[in-house]
Amino acid sequence: MNPQRPVRSTPRLDRLWRAGQAFLGVDVPIMCGAMTWISEPKLVSLMSELAAFGVLAAGNMPPAQLAAQIDETRRLTDRPFGANIIVIAPNYQAHLDVVCEKRLGHIFFAGSIPRQSEVRRAKESGAKVVCFASTDSIARRMIDYGADALVLEWSEAGGHIGHVSTTVLLQEILFRFDTVPIFIAGGIADGRMIGHLCLMGAAGAQLGTRFVVAEECGAHARFKDAFMKARSREAVSTPQYSSKLPVVAVRALHNRAMEDFGRLQLELLEKIQCGRITRPAAQYEVEHFWVGSLRRAAVDGEIETGSLMAGQSVGLVGRTQPLREILQQLVDEADLAVVAAEQRLQGRRVPNAPARAERLIDGVEILSTYNVGDIAFVRSLLEGSGIPFLFHGENFAVVDPLIQPARLLVPPEYAERARELLRDVDIHFMGINIGDGAPPADEDEDEEKGGGGGA
Ligand SMILES: Cc1cc2nc3c(=O)[nH]c(=O)nc-3n(C[C@H](O)[C@H](O)[C@H](O)COP(=O)(O)O)c2cc1C
Repeated sequence: MNPQRPVRSTPRLDRLWRAGQAFLGVDVPIMCGAMTWISEPKLVSLMSELAAFGVLAAGNMPPAQLAAQIDETRRLTDRPFGANIIVIAPNYQAHLDVVCEKRLGHIFFAGSIPRQSEVRRAKESGAKVVCFASTDSIARRMIDYGADALVLEWSEAGGHIGHVSTTVLLQEILFRFDTVPIFIAGGIADGRMIGHLCLMGAAGAQLGTRFVVAEECGAHARFKDAFMKARSREAVSTPQYSSKLPVVAVRALHNRAMEDFGRLQLELLEKIQCGRITRPAAQYEVEHFWVGSLRRAAVDGEIETGSLMAGQSVGLVGRTQPLREILQQLVDEADLAVVAAEQRLQGRRVPNAPARAERLIDGVEILSTYNVGDIAFVRSLLEGSGIPFLFHGENFAVVDPLIQPARLLVPPEYAERARELLRDVDIHFMGINIGDGAPPADEDEDEEKGGGGGA
């Protein structure tokens, strides 16, 4: 088992996350999306041990290897996790056999549209079935086939993608379908986005790119490094040159592999034209190209000739962090988004910039500069106490690596209890400010403009 303390949700998020928590059987309905060559037992089990949700990526691995990975993940965690099988992979039918025989709790059908009989078979094995929806007609069809939940993945995502944008899919699917939980994937790296999506009705979120740079993720260091350096606009999607060779678009960082893919498409088109290859065989070669080139980059670290599949969220990913820290940050930020929404509904002007987010919690702030180790200690004390709290600023730029300017925030009604609990803690409080619950005073325009740059 992984000796990691689970990440804690908050009472506010628990209310918002009820459907996602119940569906996945976890406290934090944030999934690490399956990533071929990357989502292996270690990463998957750690996600689940931390109270979130991991998904194994079957890719096109030999079926016996998938069975072994399921066993290994079960050895590492007794918490829920899922497996993602790719409908267009040559080993797909054998993968379906394995996940059903292993009686996995959650089966994700990806890559294309599964048959209704396959969805039924997965459900009969006892699994909850999750299908991807990149258009409204696919969403409707998957629900008709019996999918228990949908992942709404839009074109910002990394890997194989649909063509429809976030704003449109939200309106076409999330706002119109309410019979199954809907999880959102693609372009998400900040927990505030998760908070806002859940306020719109999402059950939770699935992220890929952000988790690639987790310290515990087994992707090659050069692969991670490329992610940390890249900007959003460098994660581009592949074109389709002709309807004679339909290809699923892939979003990846621009490099030589992307150009090689362009050339491969043209060669295959020419072969189709001359009758030297059938369309399905050409499509198979395309998928074969991606699986091989992703392996070259993610496993072997060949970042020029291999595929650097990444979402546009890559621009929001700047450094490597322990997985627990990433998840805790996502939860804290999601909570912050909900607090901000509550405050806005009360007519308050709430800044978006994280540098002033501490003002979102009514007048109460336990202000300090913490030693890095102290943050973990204070967190462990508060986590068992039932006191809702938020560390804000843990991720600000730090001058001294041992000192982090962090603010501990507690709602007014819990402030006394928090102060009492931390009374004997030998940390360097700069001060404890217990506010009066009054709304923060509006700032003048100049300050507003000046402060907004921190966002
Ligand atoms: C390197 C990489 C490999 C991926 N492999 C798969 C896969 O095998 N199956 C799948 O359904 N999705 C795959 N995805 C998509 C992710 O599961 C997830 O939905 C996506 O990364 C979300 O978008 P984001 O990267 O912007 O967070 C992959 C994504 C990346 C970045």
